[in-house]
Amino acid sequence: MSQPVSQRFPQVDDDHKELIPMITELEQSRDPGDIRKQVEALRPWLERHFEEEERPNGMFESIESVDPRHSQDLKGLIHEHRAMIEQVEQLAELAKAAESGQPLHQQLIDSVREFVHLVREHEIVENQLLVEAFYHEEGGGD
Ligand SMILES: [Fe+2]
Repeated sequence: MSQPVSQRFPQVDDDHKELIPMITELEQSRDPGDIRKQVEALRPWLERHFEEEERPNGMFESIESVDPRHSQDLKGLIHEHRAMIEQVEQLAELAKAAESGQPLHQQLIDSVREFVHLVREHEIVENQLLVEAFYHEEGGGD
């Protein structure tokens, strides 16, 4: 009777599946030109993804309506969305500078690693909220 929680929001679920290989590839990249291309592609992708999560009647609003106790956590996640867009823009700038021969290569690699870490942590928290909200709604199988 109950569908897997992740499939309540199939677009978000598909996005998350697509995001994992993208950030893994980014994490493993060492060439500034290569990194720049990836982060430039990632920026509009993330913007669209975050809009999907934040849209009216979307995943975040649904979590909040099922379990208003999560409203502060959701605000925190929305704040992180903005921060991740800023970070991805900074990464593009840093990659461009590193590409033109400035000695920023290590800084770029470290910043990429930080960004990837933030994205992964973010997705974990998001997923926990989703599961908690709907597990709660379904009565936890009682
Ligand atoms: Fe997400």
